[in-house]
Amino acid sequence: MATYNLNINGTNRQVDVESDTPMLWVLRDHLDLVGTKYGCGIAQCGACTIHLNGNAVRSCSVPVSAVGDQAVITIEGLSETVEKAEHAVQQAWLEHDVPQCGYCQAGQIMNAAALLTRNSNPSDEEIDDAMNGNICRCGTYIRIKAAIKTAAS
Ligand code: FES
Repeated sequence: MATYNLNINGTNRQVDVESDTPMLWVLRDHLDLVGTKYGCGIAQCGACTIHLNGNAVRSCSVPVSAVGDQAVITIEGLSETVEKAEHAVQQAWLEHDVPQCGYCQAGQIMNAAALLTRNSNPSDEEIDDAMNGNICRCGTYIRIKAAIKTAAS
């Protein structure tokens, strides 16, 4: 067990956990940030996507010991802590009524937000490439793509 000081959604948070604890469980079980979802636990579905220094990563596969002083943004902090482009993603999600069951959507939004931060006007192909690994069992992919295009415009 060790103590880690983490920068979560712009706030310093301290946790006492084993060094190999995945960030997914640090967020959900120790910091009560349950917007980040568990899907597969093996970096295959994207439900657990968060940002580390603005890059989308799968928190089920990032041990707390690898985070250091990188800025961690979760779905709870997305609209409050970072630039307008990311808030626009959530607005577009509402506009297009994207979710069906909703379980994967936090991960979808976090991945889309990271895409639009590095590429403010992605092509269809670039959207497909970036979102390819985020699985939605309800098949909301068409609305996800439409929302990303709205957020980019
Ligand atoms: Fe992390 Fe599926 S729970 S990628």
